[in-house]
Amino acid sequence: MANTYDFGLVGLGVMGRNFILNVVDNGFTAFGNDLDGEKVAALINEGGDTEKVNASTDAKTFVEALSTPRKIMLLVPAGKIVDAVIKNLLPLLDEGDIIIDGGNSFYTDTDRREAYLKDKGINFFGAGVSGGAKGARRGPSIMPGGSREAYQHVKPIFEAVSAKYHGEPCVTYLGPKSAGNYVKMVHNGIEYAMMQLTSEIYDILKKAGGLSNQELHQTYASWNEGRLQSFLVEITAAILAQKDDLTDGDLVDMILDKAKQKGTGKWTSQNAMDLGIPVPTIDIAVSMREISALKEERVKADELYDRPSPEPVDKNVLIKDAEQALYFAFIIAYTQGMHQLADASKEYGYELDLGEIAKIWRAGCIIRAALLADITEAFQADKDLPNLLLSPSFVGKVQSTVAAARKLVSYGATNGIPLPGLSNSLTYFDAYTSERLPLNVIQGQRDYFGSHTYERTDREGIFHTEWGS
Ligand code: 6PG
Repeated sequence: MANTYDFGLVGLGVMGRNFILNVVDNGFTAFGNDLDGEKVAALINEGGDTEKVNASTDAKTFVEALSTPRKIMLLVPAGKIVDAVIKNLLPLLDEGDIIIDGGNSFYTDTDRREAYLKDKGINFFGAGVSGGAKGARRGPSIMPGGSREAYQHVKPIFEAVSAKYHGEPCVTYLGPKSAGNYVKMVHNGIEYAMMQLTSEIYDILKKAGGLSNQELHQTYASWNEGRLQSFLVEITAAILAQKDDLTDGDLVDMILDKAKQKGTGKWTSQNAMDLGIPVPTIDIAVSMREISALKEERVKADELYDRPSPEPVDKNVLIKDAEQALYFAFIIAYTQGMHQLADASKEYGYELDLGEIAKIWRAGCIIRAALLADITEAFQADKDLPNLLLSPSFVGKVQSTVAAARKLVSYGATNGIPLPGLSNSLTYFDAYTSERLPLNVIQGQRDYFGSHTYERTDREGIFHTEWGS
């Protein structure tokens, strides 16, 4: 058994087990490791042939079973556990071996681990894996960052197991250090924004249009056949059709409206603030999860304030407008995420190719969508495109749908239906496309109270005024 298995995986939870079985389905041999004997037994049982897939609770047996350079993927919860697993494996490894962290680790943790392991001759990759448990089994989108040379050893396995878009693998080498984790973090920020948008469009269709769950299901299902085709629209349609096992109702009506979060959306927002890149649709998606958590306070506040009853609308017109508005806002969500990636690439030296990133998001990952084919083309046409809204191929798409976004946002504001993702997307669009903004007044105020100076529209230089004198 020694030194024969092609691939090692630590962490045999659902994601890990599914990933390793996917590796084996693609003709590689693999060996798993987990402290939990039941998980080890479950994998051996499911794998069938131990010459193809085997596992052990013992780290030494695990490491010795792998061919060199060893390719060991960790699918364990982000944080201290990653460090503990690395510490455990390190004395058993040889120079040139490769550790791949497949979890949602914070990018600075990845930089720290990469530098530490490089010193010891070990290659470390942060590789975001998207697609959930099903994706891990059938083909995820994989976002690896680390040493380009070492990636060559991992490449055949990752390309084989990843999702395919018209035959093209949804994985590519993204860049050095934490590039992979960073890209996955922003992927999740966009994911948060798209989830928020699909949920608030559901809300307005229900509250203003009076659509039943069945009609909502049909609406999302039909959208998924058109330009809104995406994993998140597809699963929203399925969620809206799900019957409840415990009552006679629909499951969606029984789910508590408090959304949890593990932190990747918040990290995206926080880091965008640090970089000085506006991502307001992502920011508000994080804030909405926070507001949702305040359930008890919301219930009390609801009793204190009146809310207008929604004015009647033509259901079919509303559905048409909602489709356009959602398409508009999806574009804005990607726009903000891609803008953040472009800036982070310069700031952190990732040398990201945005066209390649959009390309590997076209299948397998949670934010996969028909739109990503267009985004890929836009960045292929102009590698240095600073913002998707500046792409000639997006002007028509945005121009023809923004009016519907305005209509819905104003209806929501008048009728007390919160559409924060949509309104933030619209505000972002209106601000980004305004030649002149009122920030001249802010500069005047800053100079007035703090002598912070200002620039002028008509001549170069820095100016200060003794205001009121
Ligand atoms: C993916 C998902 C995955 C995970 C999210 C959930 O791409 O497969 O993003 O990584 O489901 O991290 O995040 P929250 O629990 O924060 O919603």
